[in-house]
Amino acid sequence: MASKESLAASIPGLSPAARKMLEIAADAEASVAAIANALEEDKSMADRLLLIANSPLFRPVSPLRDIRGAIARLGVRSSVELALAVAILNASGGRMPLPALNVRKQSVAIGAISRIVGYEYGEQGGDNTFLSGVVHDIGLVTLVRNKTVDYRANKPETHDDGLCALEKDAIGYSHADLAGAVLKKWNVGSDIMALATEHHDVDATHANPVAHELLRVADTIEHGVAAGKPTNEILEATERTAKSDSVPPGRLNVLWPRIMEARQSMQAAAVA
Ligand SMILES: [Fe+2]
Ligand SMILES: [Fe+2]
Repeated sequence: MASKESLAASIPGLSPAARKMLEIAADAEASVAAIANALEEDKSMADRLLLIANSPLFRPVSPLRDIRGAIARLGVRSSVELALAVAILNASGGRMPLPALNVRKQSVAIGAISRIVGYEYGEQGGDNTFLSGVVHDIGLVTLVRNKTVDYRANKPETHDDGLCALEKDAIGYSHADLAGAVLKKWNVGSDIMALATEHHDVDATHANPVAHELLRVADTIEHGVAAGKPTNEILEATERTAKSDSVPPGRLNVLWPRIMEARQSMQAAAVA
């Protein structure tokens, strides 16, 4: 049976452009030019960034045609976040069986939902809402892709917190534990790593409890939609997921059309 460490080691490292982006992310003075220069070294990263920047999630007033224009419009922080998300999608991509691809598409949808719902939490929701969603189930993509766990009775696409218990029984660690190991290998920042590790732990005391709640609310929405549950049932489930009353279900109801539009367009971008 593959250990957490050996599975994490089997995942490719990030590209030089992605590593450069991590350096830029840590630089409070980062400039548009620095981001553009790093992106120009990796055309597939730049192309996908442009695709996502033009999606309904980022709502450009007019189409963004070149990378410098896109960075100027998105701003430095959002551009770095998006570039890192794209880099991680590229590093963890390639051919994979349909169930793994579905989990990957859902993670991107969860990123989109986090970003939209995150506005409702304001600054409390923290930075990197989209990126956190994209990476949080990287461990699940890996376990499903490698067929490490037999998920027959509990579809990974519609998973709830019980999935971790099933995995721990089978292999001794959960997909959330594995996500932590992969993100550590990539050096993707301790806050995002902690969010991924704790995303099924309702009692986790995360440094930013609102970011933790936001990720869990987005997760609940996406997995509910994937399971074909009615909207009112999903909204009720988010009430149970959310510890605070920062985002009342009435607000989520208003946001629902945007949430659905963003998750669909992001899923298309994830497999483009
Ligand atoms: Fe998960
Ligand atoms: Fe998830």
